[in-house]
Amino acid sequence: MALTIEHKKRLERVIKRLDSSFFFYDLDHLKSRLTYMDSVKDPDVKLWYACKANPLSSILKIFRNLNFGIDVASQGELNQVLQAGVEPEDILSTGPSKARNYLRSMINNEVNVVVLESLNQAYWLSEIAGELGARPKVLLRVQLDWDEGSSVLGGDAITPFGLDQKEWLKLDFEKTKNLDFQGFHVFQWGNILDLSRLETIWDKISKEMVELAKTMKIPLNILDLGGGLGICYEKGDSPLDFKDVSVTLTKIKEKHGLKKVWMELGRYAVGTCGHYLTQVIDRKTVRGKEILVTDGGINHIARPALVDQDFPCEMFRDSDAEKSSFQVHGPLCTAIDKLGTFQLPNDINEGDWLVFSQTGAYGFTEAMPFFLCHNLPAEVVLYNGDLMTPRPIKTSTDWLV
Ligand SMILES: Cc1ncc(COP(=O)(O)O)c(C=O)c1O
Repeated sequence: MALTIEHKKRLERVIKRLDSSFFFYDLDHLKSRLTYMDSVKDPDVKLWYACKANPLSSILKIFRNLNFGIDVASQGELNQVLQAGVEPEDILSTGPSKARNYLRSMINNEVNVVVLESLNQAYWLSEIAGELGARPKVLLRVQLDWDEGSSVLGGDAITPFGLDQKEWLKLDFEKTKNLDFQGFHVFQWGNILDLSRLETIWDKISKEMVELAKTMKIPLNILDLGGGLGICYEKGDSPLDFKDVSVTLTKIKEKHGLKKVWMELGRYAVGTCGHYLTQVIDRKTVRGKEILVTDGGINHIARPALVDQDFPCEMFRDSDAEKSSFQVHGPLCTAIDKLGTFQLPNDINEGDWLVFSQTGAYGFTEAMPFFLCHNLPAEVVLYNGDLMTPRPIKTSTDWLV
């Protein structure tokens, strides 16, 4: 989503007031996007929000109010989600690192479904459930072999997410008597815009999980396909329409006789509503290259350095000047603090602001905010037409001891 003239008018004041980098989330856009997704989805498809993408409470509340469940992957996310008023029956837990005390906390907080990622997790959860007189619903996370390349979620690489089928077959049901098995979870491919590729992946997952359910003699009431729907980061990318995604999910469901299909979406749900704004601190030429140095960099948005893909960028101010190529670097004393190379107007200079779009997902909480003790970015939201700053700028004096 590009910033509108109306957005810009209002953000000019925020820029003056904060005078430091910030994220801006258009929650009216988010709400209409989610409402649309809900309106076109198959009734047998349940949508969850993977809040690792952005756990800001005002964002969680939008999902809560639109009846999305929330997927948490840590005690911190669980606390945040409960504090945002999400009911335990709307909470799903995934993630490879689940210590016994975290599993206990999930049962105590009545989390609806726990995705188990190891034999230990299964045995520990059953043991704790026995002590507490609970019978938690569980899905088993399966890591499949693929013939394709890698992905942020691992793809065909060996990762800590779940177990392969052979390992799950070693599960000792004598030690899992307090668990209510509901099906499987498989998710290895992230940020995919090609629907036919998604269909191929989901088809293979469904086929293999139907077989595994039979072999293990556990019900396949739910197949959780995780996230993985892409958004447009590159010029020329075309967006996925959730109506088409939905048709494909229904096709897969019918082909494999699945009862309920779940997805827990991060990037696709929340990525497009966000922008990151940062000021140009300096402009210079180094060995023939035009360089811009900005107030914030991978201390606020680390994704370009982590996955080598830039967020789309433009200058905030309108300009008719011709464009040329600028290498944009953040403030950290490391060459990896590079936000990308962009075509920007030639008259850009110190004091101008840059806007990075598609930053609603995997932005601030994926960053490395403490290095070099710069300000932490504010988070500004537009909701029902009101512009609010739920999280103001924090300076290093707020957290350094
Ligand atoms: C278990 C799980 N589910 C869902 C997601 C969300 O993925 P995406 O942002 O691709 O929708 C992630 C992301 O890492 C994940 O680990």
